[in-house]
Amino acid sequence: MAKITAAITAVGKYVPDYILTNKELETMVETNDEWITTRTGIKERRILKGEGLGTSFMAIKAAQDLLQKGNINPEEIDMVIVATATPDLPVASTAVYTASQIGAVNAFAYDLQAACSSFLYGMSTAASYIESGRYKKVLLIGADKMSSIIDYTDRATCIIFGDGAGAALFEPNEEGFGLQDEFLRSDGVGREFLKIEAGGSILPPSLETVNEGKHFVHQEGRTVFKYAVSSMADVSGKILERNGLNQENIDWLVPHQANTRIIEATANRVGVGPEKVMQNIHKYGNTTSATLPLLLADYENQLKKGDKLIFAAFGGGFTWGAIYLTWSYDPK
Ligand code: UT7
Repeated sequence: MAKITAAITAVGKYVPDYILTNKELETMVETNDEWITTRTGIKERRILKGEGLGTSFMAIKAAQDLLQKGNINPEEIDMVIVATATPDLPVASTAVYTASQIGAVNAFAYDLQAACSSFLYGMSTAASYIESGRYKKVLLIGADKMSSIIDYTDRATCIIFGDGAGAALFEPNEEGFGLQDEFLRSDGVGREFLKIEAGGSILPPSLETVNEGKHFVHQEGRTVFKYAVSSMADVSGKILERNGLNQENIDWLVPHQANTRIIEATANRVGVGPEKVMQNIHKYGNTTSATLPLLLADYENQLKKGDKLIFAAFGGGFTWGAIYLTWSYDPK
């Protein structure tokens, strides 16, 4: 029997309306547009405003965009995964609520958390369920409301992150398109350098943890930067080598959007110029689990059947990896 491959057959996205510009950040912390632009490549990011709106609000909108564009009946979806580092609630999965809200009444659902690599790992999970032959339609959503865990008095983190959501549908493909290979890694050494210290089982919430700002993201940027540059380049190189790929036959690099300098270093290792590198960091910042599907949605009209895509991501934990996927459809 021929191997079943898992292809992406539809994508969707949602970003909130509110635009937080570098200029506005200049009024909030000691920073400036020039520093943010040259050090990160970010000009603006989106922020979800409105009481009671969490990550599911954006996940639902991105999924609805996908369903509507792909003309897909939600009742046919077998499974919904929400890749997120900012679930609506610590307990009661965001994916379950999202699935119910979009009418995926025949699906089971759960969340997947691997910081900025959540969507990349989720691609592996979604594809595995399809390749096993057990399920036919797996909806993978990457969504994060980073503004809910950012300290807007900390210039080291508040300039980087933004809110958003993207979605991709995985289905079996008879022509062999879809996920071809993956190289995924993790290393617990990273826990010290990028974390939220309190609110988990080691240090449960208390008045002290709130007063000391321990529920916000803390990052040692320079250390994370060094690991990110070498790790993303390393796994991208390995994926290339073992699949006989090079700058000539790769069509797109789809890198996690954390910092333009990290993206450039990965592109250099892969050997491709900027015309083959998907980028939207300038307008959305780092949306954690949403960066990769937002790129797919933004570039969907430029993707052709058979295009060779290399995904690469790096995130807290540490978690990182690269995936080689061939695109399954022409612009609709
Ligand atoms: O997506 C998950 C993984 N995360 C990442 O991949 C992020 C990786 N890290 C980075 O992207 C970069 O490290 C940052 C963008 C976070 C920081 O850039 P950097 O070039 O590593 O800066 P730095 O932290 O080494 O700081 C350089 C200087 C410092 O001043 P001194 O000590 O040289 O006087 C900082 O205090 O820049 C200062 N600085 C700022 N200045 C203006 C730090 N943040 C700011 C700011 N505005 N927002």
